[in-house]
Amino acid sequence: MTLLQIMPDDAPGTVLLRTEDAGAVRRELAGIGVRVEHWETAASLPASADESTIKDAYRHDIDRISAEGGYTLVDVVRMIPNPGDPEWVKLAAQARSKFLEEHFHKEDEVRFFVDGTGCFYLHVDGKVYATVCTAGDLLSVPKRTVHWFDMGRTPSFTAIRFFQQEDGWIGEFLPESIASRFPRLDDLLARV
Ligand SMILES: [Fe+2]
Repeated sequence: MTLLQIMPDDAPGTVLLRTEDAGAVRRELAGIGVRVEHWETAASLPASADESTIKDAYRHDIDRISAEGGYTLVDVVRMIPNPGDPEWVKLAAQARSKFLEEHFHKEDEVRFFVDGTGCFYLHVDGKVYATVCTAGDLLSVPKRTVHWFDMGRTPSFTAIRFFQQEDGWIGEFLPESIASRFPRLDDLLARV
């Protein structure tokens, strides 16, 4: 289930709101133009399912979202944890660091979580909206919205990505980023 924690952008230790209530999460994020949906997850999908099997399982919703947003490219990105392998640890750290600082894109960043966990931090109007997505969650970051993404210390997720253009995922990074001042994904989840 989605977790939302809102903090002032100049006071990372202050929690303005923390909720797992789906309606409250949807309302708060709709207020800043961010769309969230929760889809019924495909129970029959094996962990080893390949890209086309995953796409077929969610074909109806993929087609709906693509038509609504004009997304012409859809792919599947997957991080399968293997923390015992030093090479995997290195690659996972590289993958994690890629979007861990403030940036924006020239098109919407749309992700559906088939499984696993990831956190989008949306920096809008003086606040940071940390949104933890898990299986069944779709989140759409509108184009030019400043954000960062944390896949956690041990990345583990499968996500369907939607693009309008081939290079739509390219990030434009801000010269100064506030990201490192805020709780990372593991710390957000550990908080009671
Ligand atoms: Fe991004």
